[in-house]
Amino acid sequence: MLRSAWSIRQLVVNRTIGQRGLHATTTPFPNKLAFAFDIDGVLKQGHHNVLPQAKRVLELLSGSDGRLPKPIPFLLITNGGGVPDEERRAILSEELGVELTENQLVQSHTPIKEYVEKYKNKPVLIIGGKGESCRRVAESYGLKYPYIPQDIIAWKPSIWDRTELTNEEKSFVKTTDFSKISFAAALVMHDTHDWGRDITLILDLLSSNKGIFGTRKKGYDKSNFKGDVELIFSNADVEWRSDWPIPRLGQGAFRLSIENIYKSITGLNLPFIQFGKPFKSTYDFSELMLRRYLKQVNRNSNGELNVYMVGDNPLSDIDGANRHGWSSILVRTGVFNDNNGELPSHKPTIISDDVEKGVEWAIQEEIRKGNY
Ligand code: G3P
Ligand code: MG
Repeated sequence: MLRSAWSIRQLVVNRTIGQRGLHATTTPFPNKLAFAFDIDGVLKQGHHNVLPQAKRVLELLSGSDGRLPKPIPFLLITNGGGVPDEERRAILSEELGVELTENQLVQSHTPIKEYVEKYKNKPVLIIGGKGESCRRVAESYGLKYPYIPQDIIAWKPSIWDRTELTNEEKSFVKTTDFSKISFAAALVMHDTHDWGRDITLILDLLSSNKGIFGTRKKGYDKSNFKGDVELIFSNADVEWRSDWPIPRLGQGAFRLSIENIYKSITGLNLPFIQFGKPFKSTYDFSELMLRRYLKQVNRNSNGELNVYMVGDNPLSDIDGANRHGWSSILVRTGVFNDNNGELPSHKPTIISDDVEKGVEWAIQEEIRKGNY
């Protein structure tokens, strides 16, 4: 086993300071402190399972449990998505028991809003999510012609005859004569439910002539090939933590499959743009959102900030936070598991059993450093 200069023992906090530790009247207030929380594996394990520590921590930070004289700012940064930001924010506010404002949630596709401006008036294939929820996400970002795979299947079922449209899907398809529609991009916004269908449609567009289904551009398998359709992914996670004890495959695994199949068919490397954690665009966007939130709550939005990213995935949460100059807290309630003493791929500031222990440690750490 690789022994790097640092060891797990140096990083672990496994005790809480509980009720005794923090008092609104006596505890100095850490003025520069802010938190960025990952969702899956930190606040939740699966769609319907909110961790009790998560609710307690958000009560603490919002000041509603009386242990802090005023709220400590935080936002959520997830590689998840698949529903419009507004809707997801309302659902999470309900689940977590705290009112999240518009600047406190960054989903995998939220930073793409600005990037896809150039496709506003062009047909785009939207991949992922349940039903047509990702079409609604695309529309909420101003895209006027977002089509989904079900629309294409309704037009020509033989394009992928392995799965048939359900009656529910037939109720929301928007079909047209796609032999006249020139797609400009394919945008993967969330995990997809039909890998075979969606891989086929994406590869069709990448090798097509002017983004028209049913065509293949001359030289699609030649090294100097330049396709007419841009491929964008919102989340690079190969694995993520649901309510199943073993991590599940994520959008990153879907991308890896496309890369391999594209390579085997064309001999070429898949051309694509990647968003989501750990990439700079997502952390820069999140910093902007956090400062917009500080402005919104009349706090100094230009001042020095000590942000602690709390995440369960070293490859996305910890790597991204470290590269962005934030502190990072790796929890054991998600993808990361050091039962056999494995070192995480990226070194966090600390490792904690869960979000509650991590947050309380960070508050004490800021006070210990005199940041108040
Ligand atoms: O599909 C979501 C998954 O990749 C991870 O989400 O919240 O842990 O960044 P999150
Ligand atoms: Mg996670």
